[in-house]
Amino acid sequence: MADTAKSAGHVAVIMDGNGRWAQMRGRPRLMGHHAGAKRVREIVEACPDVGVKHLTIFAFSTENWKRTQTEVAGLMRLFKRYIRRETQDLINNGVRVRFIGDRIRLEDSLVALMDDLELATSHNTKMNLTIALNYGGRDEVTRAVKRLAYDVEQGKLSHSNVNAEVLSGYLDTHFLPDPDLVIRTSGEARISNFLLWQSAYAEYEFVDTLWPDFTAAEFVKLVSRFGQRERRYGGIAV
Ligand code: FPP
Repeated sequence: MADTAKSAGHVAVIMDGNGRWAQMRGRPRLMGHHAGAKRVREIVEACPDVGVKHLTIFAFSTENWKRTQTEVAGLMRLFKRYIRRETQDLINNGVRVRFIGDRIRLEDSLVALMDDLELATSHNTKMNLTIALNYGGRDEVTRAVKRLAYDVEQGKLSHSNVNAEVLSGYLDTHFLPDPDLVIRTSGEARISNFLLWQSAYAEYEFVDTLWPDFTAAEFVKLVSRFGQRERRYGGIAV
């Protein structure tokens, strides 16, 4: 069936290119991440005006631990600083923040800040910002299946009742609709383990801009272009 509702209600973003942006300027990679963090605020603020109710951003993947210790530690410090600095503005702007990913490997002090931010913004309804931190699509599905199998073992769920909807309910993203549009910056056309299950019918936009150069204007342009596409979900146009 053709879908004539044109708004990209849920946009997911792979924010790529921070390292190259810094290296092109002869600066340490972390400087690129700091420049990238500033863009997050701008994109969040642009969402309500273009009908984006849910924004999900890929901040740190389960594979990013392979980076140097300096870069990983710098990113963790950056996430803490971002949470401390942005909490009040996020509250004022009606943004509800939630984190997806496995918290088990994250420092306690970061997890405490994440919990506080989720709680402090839990009554906000203007838009949802979901931050993927130590997130990987395969890891998420594996953790979900483990929990589901446990519930079957405990007799809380019958194997014959397991379907796509039930499995979706065990995912980290159980509170979110599927993404309509996935954007990746920096010219790479890969999805890198991001929202694998949820993006089955998403549209993709791969743009050359490095994340620290990605403006709200470019974001708005991509979201508007989405509005002109026709989505058929495997059916035919009517
Ligand atoms: C990918 O660029 C980016 C990351 C691994 C980190 C993303 C983090 C931010 C944008 C910082 C701010 C986030 C929040 C939530 C405050 P890359 O390092 O892979 O770039 P490269 O491909 O050029 O090396």
